Amino acid sequence: MKIAIAAETDPGEPRVAATPDTVKKFVALGAEVAVEQGAGIKSGILDEDYKTAGAAVGSNVCDGADVVLRVRRPSEAELKSYKKGAAVIAIMDPYGNEAALKAMAGAGVIAFAMELMPRITRAQSMDVLSSQANLAGYRAVIDGSSEYGRALPMMMTAAGTVPAAKVFVMGVGVAGLQAIATARRLGAIVTATDVRPAVKEQVQSLGAKFIAVEDDEFKQAETAGGYAKEMSKEYQAKQAALVAEHIKKQDIVITTALIPGRPAPKLVSKDMVASMRPGSVLVDLAVERGGNVDGAKAGQVVEVNGVKIVGHNNMAGRLAASASALYSKNLLTFLETMIDKTTKALAINWDDEIVKGTALTRDGAVIHPNFAPKSAA
Ligand code: NAI
Repeated sequence: MKIAIAAETDPGEPRVAATPDTVKKFVALGAEVAVEQGAGIKSGILDEDYKTAGAAVGSNVCDGADVVLRVRRPSEAELKSYKKGAAVIAIMDPYGNEAALKAMAGAGVIAFAMELMPRITRAQSMDVLSSQANLAGYRAVIDGSSEYGRALPMMMTAAGTVPAAKVFVMGVGVAGLQAIATARRLGAIVTATDVRPAVKEQVQSLGAKFIAVEDDEFKQAETAGGYAKEMSKEYQAKQAALVAEHIKKQDIVITTALIPGRPAPKLVSKDMVASMRPGSVLVDLAVERGGNVDGAKAGQVVEVNGVKIVGHNNMAGRLAASASALYSKNLLTFLETMIDKTTKALAINWDDEIVKGTALTRDGAVIHPNFAPKSAA
């Protein structure tokens, strides 16, 4: 079995889908691994490192490979050289990208979207949303504090006292929890909000204060998969009023709120931004999905009346070496389940729920129930 590690073609993508460590594991599983020249350089991995781990390094390595590992979905041009029936595993960003899914189906590849991994215990080590969101949450605090013109911890010095910064985290999933923990480690006074009631205890256990409208709707606001539901207009209005009062007094606001398959909920209005003191900072981790903060611009740091809104794309990619290491491990544990230990060939078990949950295309068609044409679903 030939496994290819593609070099990412998107200039905004510094991550890579394998590390020397995961290459070694694939080789031990009986695979031949080929890495595209320079694929790891932005994550601090040299071609030599891959070679030492047992990979071949060259160009056009994806041509004819049985498995292609990538960070992002391949372009139509790249797909042309992929083998029919090859498994292509990446963060596919499938929502709203039906044409790209069709192109993958048309190319005859079996495309797997890592971000659709079911959130079951067995698949925790394959969960890219968690591995990457955790780093993004950490980096959001680092970036937010570097834009902030004051110190985060309280400092009592001979020349006077620096007060502790107030950090407010909106959306407490994996990224939000790490943001809380990071801000606490830096000495900030931290508050947080979320629409899922299960979060309250987690927030408190990290030493932060939980802020939310805790009515009947809130008490039921979680899907079986552990994700947030879209809240009613009434709830959103009540929550907005609470947040409006709170946000005025905050120095750094980190927003991470997402609803799978839908645009990010708008949580911070223009008026709320205007109510913040000059020098305050907002970091919008949802900016690539439409943003939680009114006025946030993807890929930019904008300033509105002295308040900065940080909208970096690909926040996990800003820690490329760490992000690549964790992502590669997610891919390794997933692909391992599809390698037959005896024949050392690709053996996809189509009844496995992690395969069913992530497979987008097969035999020329889009097969995932969330994306398949209605008549075929
Ligand atoms: P996410 O990235 O989908 O969303 C981030 C956060 O935003 C969530 O906590 C969500 O409730 C919140 N949010 C959505 N709308 C909001 C609104 N209007 N106002 C305030 N907050 C809002 O979430 P993520 O990080 O993927 O985590 C979702 C859940 O899944 C968590 O409970 C997490 O612990 C759990 N999880 C379970 C795993 C497993 O069992 N294998 C693995 C990873 C996470």
